[in-house]
Amino acid sequence: MQYRRSAIEIESPEQIGYDRIRYNLSESSFSDQYLDLSKLSLPPQLSLSYTNHAGNPELRQAIADTYQLQPDHVLISAGAAAALFIVHTALLSANDAIVVVSPNYTTNIETPRAIGCRVHTLRLDFQRQWSLDFDRLETLLRRDRTKLISLTTPHNPSGKMLSTAELYAISRLADQYGCYVLVDETYRDLRLPNAPDVALAATLSDRFISVSSLSKAYGMPGLRIGWLLCQNTALNELFLAAKEHIFVCNSIINETLALQVWQQRALFLAQMMPQVNMRYAALCQWLHSVPDIKVVLPDGGAVCFVHIEKQNIDIDDFYRQLLDIYQTYVGRGAWFEMPDTYFRIGFAYPSITELEIGLANIKAALELA
Ligand SMILES: Cc1ncc(COP(=O)(O)O)c(C=O)c1O
Repeated sequence: MQYRRSAIEIESPEQIGYDRIRYNLSESSFSDQYLDLSKLSLPPQLSLSYTNHAGNPELRQAIADTYQLQPDHVLISAGAAAALFIVHTALLSANDAIVVVSPNYTTNIETPRAIGCRVHTLRLDFQRQWSLDFDRLETLLRRDRTKLISLTTPHNPSGKMLSTAELYAISRLADQYGCYVLVDETYRDLRLPNAPDVALAATLSDRFISVSSLSKAYGMPGLRIGWLLCQNTALNELFLAAKEHIFVCNSIINETLALQVWQQRALFLAQMMPQVNMRYAALCQWLHSVPDIKVVLPDGGAVCFVHIEKQNIDIDDFYRQLLDIYQTYVGRGAWFEMPDTYFRIGFAYPSITELEIGLANIKAALELA
């Protein structure tokens, strides 16, 4: 494996230093939640043992029930990141090829690169409203060589979603080319007002592997609980073997809390979604007031990816002033292997006041640069 650090990690807010950032619009999750003891608790006699390798049986059952799957279809992992790592390392070797959408969450591209396999990036374009180009996808597929198609929906960084019809079309291509489809659905439960109703990918075909977690929609990345869902028994055995080699099982403490979160999921979402919607409305209002910024509005998730269309802008100066003068931080295009004239705004993480000030600061820095 040829590991290398990526810009999004090197320049993450915790690496830059929280003392320099007052308006953090660079995160992709709902605001960090606290261990609220009225909702979550740990039994005093909790044995600090290893847990079931596939994951806490009750948690697997609860997640399976949500999607009308079987508990055997659920493998708990340390966040979605570990689930992605399990899938990539279990299915890809240096002789294989993957087709992966770009821009994307870095791990989805960097892990296949680190494995040394052929990585065909399927570019999504602002001009095409970040939609998937099926003709291009098919030209990238190679029978016997392509092992995996890798998609993210809601997409990071644009927030665009694939429809159920598109997922079916991809499933037909996967059948035709004999490959599997990794669908990173980490933002699935953050549904914005006009989000389409889309089936969970893993319920549509046993070639699909859905990945998600409690990090983004529930604001609990510190729990490090995620999962992969797949109906293919042989694949699940392989993924379990990978998990056992990497970290054996999850933390019993985190799984215990995660079960309680999932059991009260409706309550958590009912408390959070009005806040997400309010922040999203503030973002939309701001976008209308800044002629130099163009956007394709997201369908879901916690982020949108905007394009600066101001002529003769000094782009490095814009980011420098935004941070140094306005203490405001966004995810610049280079985090996603895109020009820095694009940047990601995380609108669901800051409080409404922080968001509104942060957005006003972006407008002011744009005028200066
Ligand atoms: C699309 C996507 N998948 C997975 C992850 C990893 O999330 P987790 O905290 O669940 O490991 C991220 C984090 O930014 C992400 O954006």
